[in-house]
Amino acid sequence: MEAKHISCFVLLVGFVLFQVNAEPVEDKQALLDFVNYLPHSRSLNWKESSPVCNNWSGVNCSADGTRVIAVRMPGVGFHGPIPPNTLSRLSALQVLSLRSNGISGEFPFDFSNLKNLSFLYLQYNNLSGSLPFDFSVWPNLTIVNLSNNRFNGSIPYSFSNLSHLAALNLANNSFSGEVPDFNLTNLQQINLSNNNLTGSIPRSLRRFPNSMFSGNNIPFETFPPHASPVSTPSATPYPKSKNSRGLGEKASLGIIAAACVLGIVAFVFLIVTCCSRKKGEDEFSGKLQKGGMSPEKVVSRSQDANNRLTFFEGCNYAFDLEDLLRASAEVLGKGAFGMAYKAILEDATTVVVKRLKEVSVGKRDFEQQMEVVGSIRHENVVELKAYYYSKDEKLMVYDYYSKGSVASMLHGMLHFSIFFFFLYSWSSIVLAISKTEKIKCQY
Ligand SMILES: *[C@@H]1O[C@H](CO)[C@@H](O)[C@H](O)[C@H]1NC(C)=O
Ligand SMILES: *[C@@H]1O[C@H](CO)[C@@H](O)[C@H](O)[C@H]1NC(C)=O
Ligand SMILES: *[C@@H]1O[C@H](CO)[C@@H](O)[C@H](O)[C@H]1NC(C)=O
Ligand SMILES: *[C@@H]1O[C@H](CO)[C@@H](O)[C@H](O)[C@H]1NC(C)=O
Ligand SMILES: *[C@@H]1O[C@H](CO)[C@@H](O)[C@H](O)[C@H]1NC(C)=O
Ligand SMILES: *[C@@H]1O[C@H](CO)[C@@H](O)[C@H](O)[C@H]1NC(C)=O
Ligand SMILES: *[C@@H]1O[C@H](CO)[C@@H](O)[C@H](O)[C@H]1NC(C)=O
Ligand SMILES: *[C@@H]1O[C@H](CO)[C@@H](O)[C@H](O)[C@H]1NC(C)=O
Ligand SMILES: *[C@@H]1O[C@H](CO)[C@@H](O)[C@H](O)[C@H]1NC(C)=O
Ligand SMILES: *[C@@H]1O[C@H](CO)[C@@H](O)[C@H](O)[C@H]1NC(C)=O
Ligand SMILES: *[C@@H]1O[C@H](CO)[C@@H](O)[C@H](O)[C@H]1NC(C)=O
Ligand SMILES: *[C@@H]1O[C@H](CO)[C@@H](O)[C@H](O)[C@H]1NC(C)=O
Repeated sequence: MEAKHISCFVLLVGFVLFQVNAEPVEDKQALLDFVNYLPHSRSLNWKESSPVCNNWSGVNCSADGTRVIAVRMPGVGFHGPIPPNTLSRLSALQVLSLRSNGISGEFPFDFSNLKNLSFLYLQYNNLSGSLPFDFSVWPNLTIVNLSNNRFNGSIPYSFSNLSHLAALNLANNSFSGEVPDFNLTNLQQINLSNNNLTGSIPRSLRRFPNSMFSGNNIPFETFPPHASPVSTPSATPYPKSKNSRGLGEKASLGIIAAACVLGIVAFVFLIVTCCSRKKGEDEFSGKLQKGGMSPEKVVSRSQDANNRLTFFEGCNYAFDLEDLLRASAEVLGKGAFGMAYKAILEDATTVVVKRLKEVSVGKRDFEQQMEVVGSIRHENVVELKAYYYSKDEKLMVYDYYSKGSVASMLHGMLHFSIFFFFLYSWSSIVLAISKTEKIKCQY
């Protein structure tokens, strides 16, 4: 009897443990194979011993935790071709982002197994060759961004089978041939600029601004014959042209007047809401855009390693500048040298970002000082995880600690002091140290 009880108990415990540990084992192995075969310059927290769902950075699972459905690995420093038969085993994958890496080789042919793929972000890599002929193997594709690679060949006509497709960005590649006449009613954004395309803009795409086709061998003068080449999409919307033709002159005048009134009302409303907005609810990205800087400008096409977030050794973050600019942010405090923000990224990672204000220092000097600051390891100093330098923008990225934010702010101030101490009094000794210590883990 006793033995029976015990074995029952063991079985029960085993069952409970199995239930608790239920996780996508095969998907996990596929991901491990992927990172083991593809060299990358930043370390990841993808440990075999830890659960893949809700623990590995950049990975999201289905609600029941049985499949991996999203993999977001921007700016991890992957270099080399995507190893075959790794990612393609994640057959439930819906979101794949490998943008801002150094991935080379051709578009992986085995991605055709990812039947549920809806969002594909491979921009800013070094991918080459032509695209797969048949895109209808991914019927759910909604956003496709393959910009800033070295793809060539023609644009597959099979894109027209993707009825969900809302955005297609193929800019800054070497595509050639004519632009296919897609009949995609859901398409809201397209950018084919800076390729080697020829012919004319097909009818179905004339509702988009000409700038989306610039940098090709496509003449703009041929159509529409009387409209200016810089006409906006709303001015001559292709699908609506039929309706407006039937309108009388009076009706059009009335519409214009109504639109003016509406515009003024909207403008006043905007002003009022903007003024009554709380100070703390600042949108970090909004602020950065105001400074005239967009991610495209910052992250240059040539994979210019100097124009990116530079991470320090041992940082587990999986985000890039683009993510940071998109993050929602809250003002933590204002210091003599700028503002500190708490930035929450798309994948719920929280960091503290400091924007240095009115610091006119050369790029080299700035980087050298950052490396010195970043190499400080002390229990009372919050570690600098990454920094960014451009002429108009200087950012420092730290870990965010929810507990004792006051303390971390104080440490942050200490950090600032150290930084500026170095900035104004650096000597050849400091230079020598920063030169010999190769602490950058940047790709
Ligand atoms: C992930 O799991 C490891 C060990 O299993 C744990 O130490 C770590 O805190 C976990 N991280 C997160 C973000 O849950
Ligand atoms: C991904 O997982 C994180 C937690 O690990 C969660 O906060 C986030 O909302 C998830 N994102 C999506 C798109 O499901
Ligand atoms: C694709 O997603 C749907 C639900 O969104 C799911 O029912 C189906 O099983 C998925 N397909 C695969 C191959 O995982
Ligand atoms: C496409 O997505 C829908 C839900 O958005 C899902 O029900 C369907 O199964 C998906 N299609 C395929 C082929 O997986
Ligand atoms: C891209 O790949 C080519 C070889 O295919 C290589 O010569 C070049 O250096 C790579 N560029 C970058 C930025 O990695
Ligand atoms: C595309 O580039 C590859 C080299 O990366 C070359 O072999 C091939 O001929 C090119 N194809 C076209 C259509 O230009
Ligand atoms: C669209 O899909 C259908 C069936 O899947 C196929 O017969 C057709 O050739 C495809 N069209 C294009 C343009 O790929
Ligand atoms: C594609 O990438 C470019 C460059 O990063 C970005 O500006 C654009 O918004 C992206 N397009 C889509 C549709 O996500
Ligand atoms: C475009 O597709 C719609 C249905 O999605 C169809 O009614 C229309 O005739 C198509 N137009 C052309 C030019 O193929
Ligand atoms: C399209 O690309 C051009 C140049 O590459 C850029 O100026 C423009 O902002 C892009 N538009 C969108 C919507 O991404
Ligand atoms: C663009 O296409 C022409 C032929 O149409 C070819 O001679 C030229 O080399 C191509 N340029 C690039 C940069 O691929
Ligand atoms: C294409 O590259 C140029 C720089 O070479 C950049 O200014 C532009 O924004 C890029 N376009 C897109 C859509 O990423």
